[in-house]
Amino acid sequence: MTNLKQAILQGIPSELPAKKNINPSVSHAPNRKEILNKEEKKLAIRNALRYLPEHMHVVLAPEFTEELKTYGRIYMYRFMPNYEIKARHLEDFPHKSKQAAAIQMMLSNNLDNAIAQHPEELITYGGNGAVFQNWAQYLLCMQYLAEMNDEQTLVLYSGHPMGLFPSHKDAPRVVVTNGMMIPNYSKPDDWEKFNALGVTQYGQMTAGSFMYIGPQGIVHGTAITVLNAARKIDPKAEDLSGKIFVTAGLGGMSGAQPKAAVIAKGVCIVAEVNPQATYKRKKQGWVDEVYKNIDELLDRAIAARESKEAVSIAYDGNIVDLWERVVERNIHIEIGSDQTSLHNPWAGGYYPVGISYKDANEMMVNNPEQFKKEVQKTLVRHTNAINTLSERGMYFFDYGNAFLLESSRADADILKPNGDFKYASYVQDIMGPMCFDYGFGPFRWVCTSNDAKDLAITDRIAAEVLEEIMQHSPTEIKLQMSDNINWIKAAGENKMVIGSQARILYADAEGRMKIAEAFNNAIASGELSAPVVLGRDHHDVSGTDSPYRETSNIYDGSQFTADMAIQNVIGDSFRGATWVSIHNGGGVGWGEVINGGFGMLLDGSIDADRRLKSMLFWDVNNGISRRSWARNKEANFAIKRAMQMNPDLKVTIPNIADDSLINSLDL
Ligand SMILES: NC(=O)c1ccc[n+]([C@@H]2O[C@H](COP(=O)([O-])OP(=O)(O)OC[C@H]3O[C@@H](n4cnc5c(N)ncnc54)[C@H](O)[C@@H]3O)[C@@H](O)[C@H]2O)c1
Repeated sequence: MTNLKQAILQGIPSELPAKKNINPSVSHAPNRKEILNKEEKKLAIRNALRYLPEHMHVVLAPEFTEELKTYGRIYMYRFMPNYEIKARHLEDFPHKSKQAAAIQMMLSNNLDNAIAQHPEELITYGGNGAVFQNWAQYLLCMQYLAEMNDEQTLVLYSGHPMGLFPSHKDAPRVVVTNGMMIPNYSKPDDWEKFNALGVTQYGQMTAGSFMYIGPQGIVHGTAITVLNAARKIDPKAEDLSGKIFVTAGLGGMSGAQPKAAVIAKGVCIVAEVNPQATYKRKKQGWVDEVYKNIDELLDRAIAARESKEAVSIAYDGNIVDLWERVVERNIHIEIGSDQTSLHNPWAGGYYPVGISYKDANEMMVNNPEQFKKEVQKTLVRHTNAINTLSERGMYFFDYGNAFLLESSRADADILKPNGDFKYASYVQDIMGPMCFDYGFGPFRWVCTSNDAKDLAITDRIAAEVLEEIMQHSPTEIKLQMSDNINWIKAAGENKMVIGSQARILYADAEGRMKIAEAFNNAIASGELSAPVVLGRDHHDVSGTDSPYRETSNIYDGSQFTADMAIQNVIGDSFRGATWVSIHNGGGVGWGEVINGGFGMLLDGSIDADRRLKSMLFWDVNNGISRRSWARNKEANFAIKRAMQMNPDLKVTIPNIADDSLINSLDL
């Protein structure tokens, strides 16, 4: 047996391992604020010690006290494994169940140093998106997965492995819940407290559900958004070519914008105030050119637009200086947005204009009141420039970064007379009606052989399946189909794989089912050398209820309910998902969203064929039916089509009341 297998099977070591220092070459989570009182701290230490044999407690109790004091959390660094955590071939993981081995592979990918944001604090992305709360949970979970069979289910409560329970072969092998709170205890400080006690965690979306695949997901989602933004303003446009998209931010997610816009064949200008972020993206090849001189930059962009060149150009400076110069020179910009981190405006998410980056960082700490005033003044100028350009014909959308909200709080001219924002968000205008309502969402798969050759075969199979489907697609969805065919054909060249051999592709129910079926057949025939895991981002049609993001284009009042996400996870679990997850929080914050997902292993069997058809059909059509019931006409079209495809589907269709009747009522 390999050392790796032995180490995983050992679980929590019976002898105390040597103390470990944290690795200075990886990024570490910020220290969390002190939130527990003395009695609560004792409870946190008692809670941590229950994972470990009593003979270790005398050493560990003071060590955990120190961790709690220093970091605000008990991570149990001493128990970090000595082996490298990363995706490997399924057979490299010890297992009795292939499904459980696939889950080991997926969660290992989420904790890979090359993938995870703060790997030693078990955080995959988004600052607090955790896979586990501490290393004891990791060790126990891996051991359970290695030992379990196909008639057991592992139950994970916010990273804590409650244990293996007898079930049956069609049941999920793992059920994950993260951060599920009694609603009255779901405010931000409640998270700090209960996470410090070691009884809950923030799983973000794909972090706590073992489905994160690195930056590829965000590049594809952003490419789909800008392509559809181009079509919204120009129904004849096939893509972004001959159009300029201006935005800001070259950070974690925002850094995908220039790469995505070039994939969409457009000209992208992106301002970034932090030169380190700008040059990191330049070095990576995610942005093509960098300028400090705004006029030279604008001349370059105009020339590229004229020649329909696809190029991304960074402005090394503040977005407001750029927008104001565009206004002065009266340059027409087709599409505008913003991805500075305005969800975090006072602590470095948004930098004021007219102050150097260095001075702004000092002011933030030494004079926070003045910093706040400067940010708000900048937001007023930012909004004025956007308003002028929009009046001249630019299409501006909010990119889910709280630009509209913070501008309104700064008293900028961002509201219509009726109190609504002047501009819509990307989900309200683009992703909702053009993708989610038709069932298109971020389907993904991972080759458990961990072999790039298998991924190339899956890319080819997926392209063939989509081309076949497109021959009979209705016009309403033809463009979505062709976007995804173009994406998958270029996916290998775009070299987006970091970590596991994974691919993302926007597909509807029919596309997801047929691609999955073709993969299962290719595994059965031996064309693919090992099983394939299916999954998706939670930022999708059915999995997530989030009133200001995924479900912001629901207007019947139900955007504040979470029945869809809960129904979805229950429905996936009894239709054959290999694992399911449901989370409180993700993207927009604790208490603001309920989101869920699944993983499914295709192993080439007849059982896998039955499960994929049953589960994927539900996993997409659940959300479409709810969107249709909310009177969204695109979803109404899609659900009627789904009913024709499967006569066993019978969905309640809304009757539409006449506006004049409603408006004539004496209310
Ligand atoms: N990409 C998406 O699909 C998506 C979806 C939903 C929400 N968002 C939101 O987008 C925002 C950005 O996310 P991120 O992960 O890239 O954050 P980030 O903090 O890593 O990056 C933001 C960047 O903006 C830069 N910046 C701040 N103020 C600036 C200014 N005035 N001019 C020029 N540059 C400035 C910062 O230096 C930073 O590099 C977040 O609020 C996130 O929630 C993105």
